[in-house]
Amino acid sequence: MEITDYRVMNDAIMRLAIRGAPAIGIAGVFAAALAAKELVNLNPVDFLYRLKGALREIAATRPTAVNLFWGLKRAEKLIDEYAEEGNEAVFKGLKTLGQEILNEDIAMCRAIGEHGAKLLPDVCTVITHCNAGGLATGGFGTALGVIFNAHSAGKKVHVYADETRPLLQGARLTTWELMRAGVEVTLICDNMAADLMKLKKVDCCITGADRIAANGDTANKIGTYGLAVSAEYHNVPFYVAAPYSTLDAGTKSGDDIPIEEREPSEVVEGFGRRIAPEGVKVWSPAFDVTPADLIAAIITEKGIHRPPYNFKDNA
Ligand code: MRU
Repeated sequence: MEITDYRVMNDAIMRLAIRGAPAIGIAGVFAAALAAKELVNLNPVDFLYRLKGALREIAATRPTAVNLFWGLKRAEKLIDEYAEEGNEAVFKGLKTLGQEILNEDIAMCRAIGEHGAKLLPDVCTVITHCNAGGLATGGFGTALGVIFNAHSAGKKVHVYADETRPLLQGARLTTWELMRAGVEVTLICDNMAADLMKLKKVDCCITGADRIAANGDTANKIGTYGLAVSAEYHNVPFYVAAPYSTLDAGTKSGDDIPIEEREPSEVVEGFGRRIAPEGVKVWSPAFDVTPADLIAAIITEKGIHRPPYNFKDNA
């Protein structure tokens, strides 16, 4: 997609054309740059007033992935610092910041991949949920970054990808990314993961994250919690891979993470075909919270963190 209007960027984030926590964070900062570009000819007072308004609109797109707020906080700081130099300087600064955050994210994913690959045996079977690959980040990916890294180091990784109802990020995106990279991948429905762990040797589960609280509780795509519970029961280590931009040290525990609820239509007619009776009630949280005590390790670009988790800042 080529996007030249911040409102179109907002819409793309809301309808998940751009999705995945790090990608949303990057897109949010570019959206701020697009807003500044549009407003650049206003007088400085109106410029700042309208730009801050645009930032609030961008922040209102999706509530759970903290990367969006992390990116916008950096954008706001830059706006305050550059304001005296004029509108054009603010616009250019935001554009550069977007590019910087994009480059940082790719570097963080590569480092996560390197650290995380150490956790994978030379021949292994891994389950992942949703999509935490290049399509969810600046490039390369977090959970999939770990797998890509292990694969290119010569390890033989077989991935089972949960399809990830209701929007099928696993079926649509994760399988595509893994097949393209030459990694062996088998698609399963979400409700098959527990049985898979019972019947076959699964070495670990790895997922991404949308927000990690100070105590390690982790919000990620709905279904992650169920996968972690099954993994605990079957003695399969459950790993989370995420950059520091996904840590939210200001949020004490998962209880304080805002969880987005999505439209019922995504459940009952997600891909254009009605699959439940008209008028049926639907509950559709987009994310759930996996308690820290189910997470064997959190992999960030700084290394492998083991419990008890106590994240203090995300600088
Ligand atoms: O609703 P989505 O598709 O934005 O949800 C994405 C996820 O839950 C990912 O696992 C998470 O953002 C990590 S992406 C590196």
